[in-house]
Amino acid sequence: MKQPVIHASNITRELKLGSHIVHALRGVNLDIYPNEMVGIIGPSGSGKSTLLGIIGGLDSPTDGTIAIDGVDITRMDEGQLTDIRNQKIGFVFQFFNLIPTLTALENVALPIEFAHERRHKPFERAKQLLDQLGLGGRLHHRPNELSGGQQQRVAIARALANDPPILLADEPTGNLDSRSGETVLEALANIRAENGATVVLVTHDPSLAERMDRVLTLVDGRIEPGNGLKNAATNDSQLADY
Ligand SMILES: Nc1ncnc2c1ncn2[C@@H]1O[C@H](COP(=O)(O)OP(=O)(O)O)[C@@H](O)[C@H]1O
Ligand SMILES: [Mg+2]
Repeated sequence: MKQPVIHASNITRELKLGSHIVHALRGVNLDIYPNEMVGIIGPSGSGKSTLLGIIGGLDSPTDGTIAIDGVDITRMDEGQLTDIRNQKIGFVFQFFNLIPTLTALENVALPIEFAHERRHKPFERAKQLLDQLGLGGRLHHRPNELSGGQQQRVAIARALANDPPILLADEPTGNLDSRSGETVLEALANIRAENGATVVLVTHDPSLAERMDRVLTLVDGRIEPGNGLKNAATNDSQLADY
C-alpha cells in the first residue's frame, strides 16, 4: 500500500457567522495518492474552498485529522503550517494574484528568492517553468499585457517555483473563456505528468471535471457517497497498486 499524500479523516469545520454557526464541512474522509489528479465539484457554498484551505494548511478543522505526506498537521500552529505550505503546497486561485508591477519572469522568480532553502537559481528556474507552460515568449510581459489564460499559467508556474509535491487549484479557470481554460487544464495535466505533482482541482465546470482521474462531489459539507471512482477506467490499475 502506498501512503496517501493527502489523508483527511472525519473533517468538520464550523464557522461563526454572527450568532449562528455555519457547518462548512460535516465529516469529510478522503485519501489522495501521489501523482493523482482529483477534481472536487459541488454547488456554491458546499465547502469546496474550505476543504482546499484545510488540505493546504491555510485553515484548520474544528474536528477530525488531516495529514500531508504522512505528517499530521491538524494541531500545528501558524508557524509550523507556514513551513508545511512552503515545502509542500502550491496554490492557484481563481483570481491570479500576480504582482502587477513585476514581469512574468519576476513573478515566478520571487518565491524562489524568498525560499529558506533555495533549490534553484531563481531566474533560471522561472524561465524553465514558463517555457514548460508555453510562455517562453512572454517572459518580460507584465500581467496586464497578458491574456487571462496566460496570467493563470504564470500563476501556475509561480505555484510550482519551489517544487511543491502538491498543487491545489481553486476554480483556476473560473474567470477564463473555455479556450483559455483549456490551456490552463493542459498546463496542469503536463505538470502532473512531467513534475510528478499531485493535483487537486476545484471546479464547477463538468467538462474539466471529466478529465480528472476521479471526481469527488461535495454537497452541503459532505462528500457524496459512492463518489470518487467516476473516471475509474483510467484509474483501476493505479488503485490496484495501492
Ligand atoms: N469566513 C467565513 N465565515 C463564515 N462562513 C463562511 C466563511 N467562509 C465560508 N463560509 C461558509 O461556509 C460554507 C462553505 O463555503 P466555501 O467553502 O467557500 O464553499 P464553496 O467553495 O463550495 O463555494 C458556506 O456556507 C459559506 O458561506
Ligand atoms: Mg469556493
